[in-house]
Amino acid sequence: VEETLVLIKPDGVVRNLTGEILRRIEAKGYKLVDIKLVEADRGRLGTHYEEHAGKPFYEPLLEFMESGPSVAIRVAGNRVIEGFRVLAGTTDPTTAAAGTIRGDLGRDWGLAVQQNLVHGSDSPESAERELALWFD
Ligand code: GTP
Ligand code: MG
Repeated sequence: VEETLVLIKPDGVVRNLTGEILRRIEAKGYKLVDIKLVEADRGRLGTHYEEHAGKPFYEPLLEFMESGPSVAIRVAGNRVIEGFRVLAGTTDPTTAAAGTIRGDLGRDWGLAVQQNLVHGSDSPESAERELALWFD
């Protein structure tokens, strides 16, 4: 069965939305295989977001991700990689569809990085790489 890496980013943890986000994943029928609270260091975050190195939001993104703990979750289900990204909604919370995690719970705070509550792997290759990075 397919697996993906979901992160509840520091904004989701600080806003006490962990339970609400887990509820949505479970209500969809996906299985929580492993879960932990993580204070990620720069090394891990740099590897996680290496595709964005050099972009204007890259440094603010790493600073934001270092600002507090995230919840890392190994989630399993048929087509869960695509399915979780539909549950999450598009990157910008202002325009993410209502009914999605980002559309219902997120908004643009006018900061240098979009604080959009969650991360989900975007392909089978990313999922394999990211699960190895966050769950050794
Ligand atoms: P993730 O699931 O976190 O990877 O989000 P994503 O796949 O929807 O977005 P992407 O991988 O393109 O970008 C990673 C993260 O960088 C996003 O979730 C945002 O937090 C931030 N980000 C991406 N694009 C922008 C942008 O254009 N402006 C700003 N300010 N932040 C961005
Ligand atoms: Mg991404």
